[in-house]
Amino acid sequence: MSRKIQEYEGRDVTVRYEVKRCIHAAECVRGLPQVFDPDRKPWVVPDAAAADQLAAVIMRCPTGALQFERQDGGPPEAVPAENTVGVAADGPLYVKGEIEIVDDGGSIILRDTRIALCRCGASQNKPFCDGRHAEASFRDTGALAESGPRPDEYEAGGKLTVNPAPNGPFLLQGSVEIRSADGSASFYGSKAALCRCGASNKKPFCDGSHKEIGFVSE
Ligand code: SF4
Ligand code: FES
Repeated sequence: MSRKIQEYEGRDVTVRYEVKRCIHAAECVRGLPQVFDPDRKPWVVPDAAAADQLAAVIMRCPTGALQFERQDGGPPEAVPAENTVGVAADGPLYVKGEIEIVDDGGSIILRDTRIALCRCGASQNKPFCDGRHAEASFRDTGALAESGPRPDEYEAGGKLTVNPAPNGPFLLQGSVEIRSADGSASFYGSKAALCRCGASNKKPFCDGSHKEIGFVSE
């Protein structure tokens, strides 16, 4: 996975931006237009806002395209206490938590607290979403084929590993809550296989359809 990360150094905060993971012209530009202005060069000017404000807006970037490092002794981004997957209607899986993306051999590809995973099969930057679900006319309401109340024994938090299985689903291991797009239903578990080919009839879960459609993940 090749990664190109741009760096914008400010007095109090250094901002890092991974263009290939940005899909979503909203949170940053809307939250701090004086810092994030796509029509300006450079498009990020970290000193145009207070460090706390800037960090708060960056932490709302749902894809992890934006990251920050405090130079002023301020706190780094906290790891969320719970791992959640938000299923977006016609869009990706937004994962938050103590996330590790691992390959088949168990090697860590990326550690992050915010990622957007492709679930339509069309991204050119798999396993991340690159916005191609729109061109691909991917349609799914974001309802859950399986859901239920939070079990008493469910313990939130801890590491969540995500293994994009070759030509198959995302294999999740670790405590996780999966939320429907409208927020009305959740699935709680310590394991899940989530569709990333777009063809499952049990979305967001994998039902084996990737084999029938000959899904190729790379
Ligand atoms: S994905 Fe992140 S960096 Fe891209 S526009 Fe949205 S908030 Fe900004
Ligand atoms: S990855 Fe889509 S059905 Fe298995």
